[in-house]
Parts: sequence; C-alpha cells; structure tokens
Amino acid sequence: MNHNIVLLPGDGIGPEIVEQARLVLLAIGKRFGHEFEFSSHLLGGIAIDETGDPLPPATVEACKAASAILLGAVGGPKWDDPSAKTRPEAGLLRIRKELGLFANLRPIKLFDELADASPLRADIVRGTDILFFRELTGGIYFGESGTSGSGDDETAFQSMTYSVGEVKRIVRMAAKAAQGRSNRLTSVDKANVLEPSRLWRRTAAEVMSSEFPDVQYDVVLVDSMAMHLINRPADFDVVVTGNMFGDILTDEASMLPGSLGMLPSASVGSDGPGLYEPIHGSAPDIAGKGIANPLATILAAAMMLRHSLSLNEEADAIEAAVAAVLTDGLRTADLARGGESIGTEAMGAAVVAKVSSAS
Ligand code: NAD
Ligand code: IPM
Ligand code: MN
Repeated sequence: MNHNIVLLPGDGIGPEIVEQARLVLLAIGKRFGHEFEFSSHLLGGIAIDETGDPLPPATVEACKAASAILLGAVGGPKWDDPSAKTRPEAGLLRIRKELGLFANLRPIKLFDELADASPLRADIVRGTDILFFRELTGGIYFGESGTSGSGDDETAFQSMTYSVGEVKRIVRMAAKAAQGRSNRLTSVDKANVLEPSRLWRRTAAEVMSSEFPDVQYDVVLVDSMAMHLINRPADFDVVVTGNMFGDILTDEASMLPGSLGMLPSASVGSDGPGLYEPIHGSAPDIAGKGIANPLATILAAAMMLRHSLSLNEEADAIEAAVAAVLTDGLRTADLARGGESIGTEAMGAAVVAKVSSAS
C-alpha cells in the first residue's frame, strides 16, 4: 500500500531533523515492504519569504490529500518583528485549525537509558510515563484579540473561550486513552480564577461521571501541577488540559526525559490526516550547526505510523531502534550535558542502522 506523506520542514533546525526522520521512514519501508511517497511543502517563515503567506493554499491542499503530515518547526528571529503583518507561527495555528486537529497528544516517557540525562534526580524521574492531551484548536490561542489607544493608554487583549462541546470531545478522547493505560485521568485548569476553566471543570466532571465512572479522575490547578510535575512525575498517567496550559506544562515536562529534543507529538481530529511533530521549536540558536537532536522528530514519525497508518510493528521498530542507540551510549549535545556527543546526521544514521540491521 502506498502512503502519501506530506513533509513540512519549516524553519531553523526543521529541515535538518525532518530529513533524518524521512531517512528512518525509508529504512522502515525497505524492511517491512512499504512504499512511502514524500512531498515537501511550505509552512512558516520560509513560506512567508517565498509567497508572503505562512500557510499558502497549496500547502493546505496537499495536507488535506495526505495520508499523514510530518512537521519540523516554524519561526525564528528573522520573522520576529512585533509589528510584522504576519508570523510563521500563524501558519502553524491555521493548519491545526483547518484540519480540525483538536487533540495534541504529548507522551512524556523516560527512556531508562536517559535517567542520568535529566537535570532532575534519577530517583524522582524514574517511572515517568505521562500522556498529555493538550486541547489544540480553542482557548486563548484562538480568542478574539485587538489593540486600541496610544501611549501609556494603549491596551491589548486576547480573550479565552471554551465551549462545552470543545471540552467534551477532548476529555472523552483522553478518558478513552486512560482506559487503555492505567485508568487514571487528571484534568488541569485554573478554575479558581478563570471562567472558561470553571466551564471546563464542570463539563469534564459531567463527562467523567456519566461516561467513564470506572476511570479514576482528579483535578489539579495549573500552578500546582507545574510543581507536582517536578516533584512526583511518576504519579501521573493521562493528563488533559487546555491549549496554553498544555503548551507550557509539556515544555516543563520535557526536562523529565532529559531534553526537549526527545519529545514527539501527534495532533489529531475526529477524521482526516493527523499531523506529527516534535514539541520543540526551530531552535535558531543551533540551526545550521548540524547538532540538533533528531530523535523527537523520529519518534513523531513512529507516532504517525501507529496513529495514522496503523503500522504498529513498524512504529515499535523505530522506538526500539531509538532505545538501542541510547543504550549504545550515543548522545546529541543536548543529552550529553558536556560529555561526548554526535551530530544530527550521525544520530539519524545510527537509528537507520538499527532499523535496518534488526530485519
Ligand atoms: P525552541 O524549542 O526552538 O528552543 C528552546 C531551546 O531548546 C533552545 O536552546 C534550543 O537549542 C533547544 N532545542 C530545541 N529543540 C532541540 C533539538 N531538537 N535538539 C537540541 N536542542 C534543541 O524554543 P524557542 O527558542 O523559544 O523558540 C524558537 C522559535 O521556534 C520561535 O520562533 C518559536 O515561536 C518557534 N517554535 C515553534 C514550534 C513549532 O513549530 N511547533 C514550537 C515551539 C517554538
Ligand atoms: C508548540 C509551539 C506552538 C504553540 C507555537 C509555535 C505556535 O510552541 O507547538 O508547542 O504554542 O502551540
Ligand atoms: Mn510549545
């Protein structure tokens, strides 16, 4: 069967890491007998430079027709002027919205081999295996915004809205995932202050008691969650939260497995192609140096095989290959913490070698 994969390399380290994931997918295709057809399209800063639009219509069309989408990252200082009329990040938000990708799955799983790479004590991070469900197409990211006035009286606002339907669908998806894991779900909000969080909490409680009475369910305030994540990460299983809280908490949680460069994500909706990407950004500070960690994107490719293409054995093979290179002691600079390190291409090639030699 042919699989039509749209690549959106984007900016900064995006093209470097997406290329390594593409090579790993080719090796998987060879080993398991699949044909992956790749086509690259413009998104982000590069799309602004070439077309004036961070999400050109041709990219949307290609994504809609794809079996799945693999994205690098967008953004960078070149496009950071606060008075610019558009930004790379706007393209990313629009593609999520256009494809109805309301759920962003962010697994925070510690590879045992990396217990020492975390800035936290190994005895605290050991056993960490959390699956975040970040709501992705609502909340403050998509709220009404504007500016008015001038001088000291100039103001800017951005509103946060959630509807009952938006909360129900993400909570349901997270609760179903919990049933397939250790049957525990934590919902994170700021219901002591924010009105949309109160709607979120009430709706989530209704869904859980009427549809998932068997799932152990609790709620935690977001500020408190930021602390618990560092103090007792191994206590959490599935976590569901809104768009901005999920963005912030998962970057924080990336330090549990040792680096932002290790964390993949899957953005899915109720139908249509899923979009797979690392949770990190375009890392302008290391772009072009050949030292970025490609493993988050390679692991995102594994999520793509599992969730969009139902190729479970193939996804397992990628994850096993990543574990194997870590067991061999291979580390990119972000994981090496001053020790010996290898570059992006060497890390990608090591994963390809493991995938190929296991056949
Ligand atoms: P960032 O995630 O790009 O980088 C944060 C730090 O982590 C940097 O020191 C970077 O070098 C390091 N890092 C990130 N990924 C790495 C990897 N694979 N290997 C090794 N080190 C890695 O966040 P930032 O610097 O705050 O943002 C840079 C740009 O990226 C901004 O324009 C931002 O809007 C954008 N961004 C895009 C996405 C996305 O496309 N999904 C996500 C986050 C940020
Ligand atoms: C992410 C990023 C994006 C977000 C930005 C670049 C729009 O930080 O994918 O986590 O905030 O969702
Ligand atoms: Mn983010």
